[in-house]
Amino acid sequence: MSELHSVAAQMVAKGKGILAADESIPTCTKRFESINTESNEQSRNFYRNMLFTSDNIAEYINGIILFDETFHQKELKTDTLFPQYLESKNILPGIKVDGGLQSFNNHPEEKVTVGLDRLDKKLSRYYSLGARFAKWRSVITLGNGIPSDGCIQANAEGLAKYALLCQQANLVPIVEPEVLMDGNHTIDISFDVTDRTLSAVFSQLEKHNVDLQGIVLKPNMVLSGYNCENQASVEEVAQKTLECLTNNVPSSVPGIAFLSGGQSDELATLHLNEMNKQDTNWKVTFSYGRALQQNALNTWAGKSENVKAAQEALLSRAKANSLATTASL
Ligand code: 13P
Repeated sequence: MSELHSVAAQMVAKGKGILAADESIPTCTKRFESINTESNEQSRNFYRNMLFTSDNIAEYINGIILFDETFHQKELKTDTLFPQYLESKNILPGIKVDGGLQSFNNHPEEKVTVGLDRLDKKLSRYYSLGARFAKWRSVITLGNGIPSDGCIQANAEGLAKYALLCQQANLVPIVEPEVLMDGNHTIDISFDVTDRTLSAVFSQLEKHNVDLQGIVLKPNMVLSGYNCENQASVEEVAQKTLECLTNNVPSSVPGIAFLSGGQSDELATLHLNEMNKQDTNWKVTFSYGRALQQNALNTWAGKSENVKAAQEALLSRAKANSLATTASL
């Protein structure tokens, strides 16, 4: 099996998932503000160190997505760079490589992800420093008259170009087209927009000759908008999400690792568990940021005496989601 195929298969292995810890500096600062903690290079290093050194985290987590700053920081006890530290624990190191969002066609709400310039050089360097997979996130916003086909198309093209460059650098691309669930729209509208988005993404991936066996798809779940009066049940979310994915995702894709997207920790786990009750063409797992970290962040509250309890909070979410990958909750 090629390296790409075996890494992709490892990333979506049953019983395990991916921890997204790649918040950019501004996002991390926002999270730290919520717990009245100063965000600086040192405190961010401390926080990531706390997460990654949780006892036996590798039982539940087989990959961690890092932000560039963390990628070059060290595990504090062993003074080892994080990529090598994670590798020593059997956790694949990943790296966020997109350059963030820009306004699309001067629209006030539509965005396109940028960062293709010189990406090939960046990717080879990350590979040589130990990264084994990468992540690029596109964002599709739902609203009055949006998303436009042009915006979906531009984001799908960016994802496909990025994915091809990753594979040329021997990195497995996480392809993340996130349809945001903010708003009062119904689950059926989420379904339609996710369907349009995934359809555009897979036609671009095919057009660019991306090897589908060497990617991991990281989509949103199909949910009712967070402010919709009528919130779909766990069963309906699982059924509509799988239907939408089945419509669009070829069975050559080894796995789907969902983002949590602002759902509560518990719901993110229950939805995953419900989906795994069904037979699917691909492995179905998690690549959560907030749904794994929120409780740990709040428990830590920036205080070193809370580290152990915060690590336990992370492990408890990681374990629950690990069980959800085999519908064992
Ligand atoms: P959330 O699970 O918090 O949505 O984050 C996942 C992620 O990696 C977003 O790009």
